[in-house]
Amino acid sequence: MTRIICVIGNKGGTGKTTLSHMLCQGLGLLGHRAACVLTDTSREPLSPNGRRYITADARNSDALAKVVEKLRSLDDWIGVIDGAGNRTEQDRQLYALADIVLLPFRESHEDLRTVIHDLDLFPRAYAVPTQWPNNAWQREAADRNVAQMMGAYRDRILHPVIALSATKLLLHKQLPEQCPTPLSNTCRAIARQLLEILEIESPSRPDELKISPLPADEMPLRLAH
Ligand SMILES: Nc1ncnc2c1ncn2[C@@H]1O[C@H](COP(=O)(O)OP(=O)(O)OP(=O)(O)O)[C@@H](O)[C@H]1O
Ligand SMILES: [Mg+2]
Repeated sequence: MTRIICVIGNKGGTGKTTLSHMLCQGLGLLGHRAACVLTDTSREPLSPNGRRYITADARNSDALAKVVEKLRSLDDWIGVIDGAGNRTEQDRQLYALADIVLLPFRESHEDLRTVIHDLDLFPRAYAVPTQWPNNAWQREAADRNVAQMMGAYRDRILHPVIALSATKLLLHKQLPEQCPTPLSNTCRAIARQLLEILEIESPSRPDELKISPLPADEMPLRLAH
């Protein structure tokens, strides 16, 4: 069965496109067939060369309907639809067709307020902290803000995606031949979270056998308790 994941949210620049591509790359590295679907009319399609997933251009509603229909007709694909900021009406449409909805947000209070609004608007959606600080002190402050402002939504917040400058490689038109290992590992970790939620097992692949399952404290908050 094909699953559709939509990455949306009212605020621009939260990391929707980056998260969509990281998720697809991670799914591909774990042996799943994934398609990253562009809907943002102000962006150009990216070449699928070198990626572990295909890219699809659905920048108008007819193309989107066709891509979704095609994906739904295939077996065991995962389609990740990348939304665009400030498009509440389109977000509602994507929410309606998605099996899972992700709302990336950064650590600013403005992002937190916006994602809380979106979590109320889209009751099935999960919030994903993105560009999360690596520095221990900043990380603690960011986690504390989330706990204070978003405590009521705790079971809908996934494990944070750290700030990693190599993520910008995924948004290059052409992916370099070799992806840095930290980027691949982060992509796999995100994909594993989503596979857990979707209750999909990964096919065993020789290069994956060495990787053990996510430890409990690395699980999304939703799954950890
Ligand atoms: N995990 C990350 N680590 C470091 N930088 C990141 C990460 N995620 C996103 N960024 C950076 O943040 C900026 C915005 O990211 P992105 O384009 O993915 O956001 P977006 O939500 O798709 O924006 P828009 O609303 O314009 O579509 C980019 O410069 C991107 O490289
Ligand atoms: Mg984008």
